[in-house]
Amino acid sequence: MLTLAPQEIEEYAERHTTPLPPHLADLASFTAENMEGAVMLSGPIEGGLLQTLVWASGARRVLEIGCFTGFSAQMMAAALPDDGELVTCEIDPDTAEVAQSHFDRSPDGRKIDLRLGPAAETLTSLDGLFDLVFIDADKTSYIHYYERAMDLLAERGIIAVDNVLWSGRVLDPQSEADKAIAAFNDHVAADPRVRQVVLTVRDGLMLIRRA
Ligand SMILES: C[S@@+](CC[C@H](N)C(=O)[O-])C[C@H]1O[C@@H](n2cnc3c(N)ncnc32)[C@H](O)[C@@H]1O
Repeated sequence: MLTLAPQEIEEYAERHTTPLPPHLADLASFTAENMEGAVMLSGPIEGGLLQTLVWASGARRVLEIGCFTGFSAQMMAAALPDDGELVTCEIDPDTAEVAQSHFDRSPDGRKIDLRLGPAAETLTSLDGLFDLVFIDADKTSYIHYYERAMDLLAERGIIAVDNVLWSGRVLDPQSEADKAIAAFNDHVAADPRVRQVVLTVRDGLMLIRRA
């Protein structure tokens, strides 16, 4: 699990967080047992936070960049109204197939539109406006995704960005991904168009809104 809090605190928080419905508990177990990179699945705490943001904002359209097996997409879709829509981007066809097979069996799957391909291409084909954008894909493209998300964002929309503390490696960036996350955080911090808060939830979650 990617967490900044001590493991026992994380487990306590999870025990006191609303349990996952059976189909999402199954998806989390399936991912842990069968998928490479299962640690990428956001989990009940971050997923619950995203779901609450969708609920509290009354979002009707959500954009997700980085679907993986579709856990966070389903968590957010569950709080959308019946005619709500969530577009999620995934580059890997095998992963997308797994996600789609779970969407097909989910009570909220009909609200989810999975777009296979590089997110940068999918983003050029989308029209706004989105009430919530969740960025959680390749880290070296975060600034590009953020800039496109700003074009597509509703006036009172929120951009949520995962992994912004990157297991603490933002303090001493070494790899290309470390440097990309650190550069992204600096980019947003210097952007007068927005207000943002960095939460130490899981691996760091930044919430951004218009100034
Ligand atoms: C961190 S995982 C997403 C986890 C998911 N949001 C969740 O919480 O369960 C990132 C996903 O982004 C996908 N990805 C990476 N680069 C991408 C790109 N350029 N375009 C679209 N998807 C990409 C990866 O294949 C991976 O499945």
